[in-house]
Amino acid sequence: MNKIIVTIDGWSSCGKSTLARGLAKELGYVYIDSGAMYRAVTLYFLRSHLDWSDAQAVADHLKDISLSFHQNEHTGQSEMFLNGENVEYVIRDLVVAEKVSEVAALGPVRTFAVAQQRQMGEKKGIVMDGRDIGTVVFPHAELKFFMTADNAVRVERRFKELYTKNPNISIEEVKNNLEMRDYIDSHRDISPLRQAEDAVVLDNSNMTMDEQLQFAMDLVRQRLKLQIQ
Ligand code: DC
Repeated sequence: MNKIIVTIDGWSSCGKSTLARGLAKELGYVYIDSGAMYRAVTLYFLRSHLDWSDAQAVADHLKDISLSFHQNEHTGQSEMFLNGENVEYVIRDLVVAEKVSEVAALGPVRTFAVAQQRQMGEKKGIVMDGRDIGTVVFPHAELKFFMTADNAVRVERRFKELYTKNPNISIEEVKNNLEMRDYIDSHRDISPLRQAEDAVVLDNSNMTMDEQLQFAMDLVRQRLKLQIQ
């Protein structure tokens, strides 16, 4: 059967990765968390104490970065590797979250990440989530989602996720970080977060994970039918 590309863009902590993972599993497709790539680049820059306002230094450092995804044998989930090191856990830290929007706004960083993302989609059969996947990375994707949810719901979700790792974290910190990232992500000059004209909007504030997966799967089946006709 023909394979398609499914893109999922939207605000931070809307459950994009949960839906993307679920769809990829149902379809036997590859799931790519594009945000993890920007987080891994940010981690590398932070560890190198790089001043990323220096364009030449950014270009030089990008040459030393190799990103790859590998499947965890135990969980079956794909994890982010930076120069051969598994960084899946550490890139979720608030220290990285606080800087990632700044790094993701840099032109050379986006060019670096987008080229690799397009390569991953060459054979289709991919579900990728992020901010510019349906608008810039795969503008001709067969199915695009734009996800959103109430702010309070999003803060609560992210807080629960981070609290398990760091019980000292406050809900205020999480809220401020989400608001700051959403602002930077949607106001930057290059590839800001936008809803693609042909994207299906999915507000999951009052939906269970299963309901959103079924909603999305119905649309995938429709698109796949169109592919065969
Ligand atoms: O999805 P996430 O929260 O892990 O993304 C981390 C950051 O990277 C977020 O601030 C937005 C940015 N990002 C981006 O600019 N473009 C993407 N395709 C994915 C993420």
